[in-house]
Amino acid sequence: MDLKLSDKTALIFGGSRGLGRAIAAELAAEGAKVVIVARDGARVERVAAELGVLGLAGDVSKPGASRALVLQAAELLGRGPDILVTNTGGPAPGNFEAISDDAWRTGFDNLWMSFVESVGAALPAMKEKGFGRILAVTSVAAREPQPGLVVSNGLRAGLLGLVNAISRDVAASGVTVNALLPGYTNTDRMKEVGVTSESMGSKIPAGRIGEPHEFAALAAFLASERASYITGQAIAVDGGLLQSI
Ligand SMILES: NC(=O)c1ccc[n+]([C@@H]2O[C@H](COP(=O)([O-])OP(=O)(O)OC[C@H]3O[C@@H](n4cnc5c(N)ncnc54)[C@H](OP(=O)(O)O)[C@@H]3O)[C@@H](O)[C@H]2O)c1
Repeated sequence: MDLKLSDKTALIFGGSRGLGRAIAAELAAEGAKVVIVARDGARVERVAAELGVLGLAGDVSKPGASRALVLQAAELLGRGPDILVTNTGGPAPGNFEAISDDAWRTGFDNLWMSFVESVGAALPAMKEKGFGRILAVTSVAAREPQPGLVVSNGLRAGLLGLVNAISRDVAASGVTVNALLPGYTNTDRMKEVGVTSESMGSKIPAGRIGEPHEFAALAAFLASERASYITGQAIAVDGGLLQSI
């Protein structure tokens, strides 16, 4: 299937590792001109060279940074991004009584304001050209709260409401807005915390954790012209983990 991405520009937050990196690789392989963003500038540079994409160092949790990164990316790309992937590191783990007010605020800046700022900055150009794809990488926790992840559970569920609300506002302009919900996926981060198919497989109907490229395949499709009538959705890539319908 030709995804018709060769004339598209893309900005991918959190693109130096894990799910973001896999999305960057997939979009670049389809011919899109891609900018990745992450905090560790040396790794951004190395990964950008490996993938044949452009890179920017930045911290999307800092007030104003996500908005500024969209503008910086537009300069590198020659125009505003046609495809915006909002993605970042996971928030502090813990149950409600273990989470400080500061951790809630940091989580909100990281997961919520980075989306609000970057979408606000990218939308005007998308609407003007009559094409835009906004993909919010969230988590299965947005739909079914996961144990010990109260910040993720609370904030990501709210974000699904925002994704759907924005999608309705902009649907007639050729801009789609969707949320992607990864289940347990084999990224470096998951290796670091000991999540493997051996430790988790029995809890997942597919019997194993997912691979980043399996997640990125959905992102590439949703970013394409082919997905022009899919908007306001929250789609899980989880090997059947979620039980809710
Ligand atoms: N993998 C899974 O199984 C899974 C399951 C459910 C949900 N998720 C969620 O999906 C997202 C991505 O997961 P992942 O496994 O790909 O994580 P990861 O391997 O830790 O990668 C995170 C990426 O985001 C960048 N990043 C982190 N904080 C950032 C910030 N403040 N500003 C800019 N870039 C930042 C990281 O680079 P720097 O550190 O250099 O900034 C890295 O490129 C996370 O929110 C995670 O909670 C993942």
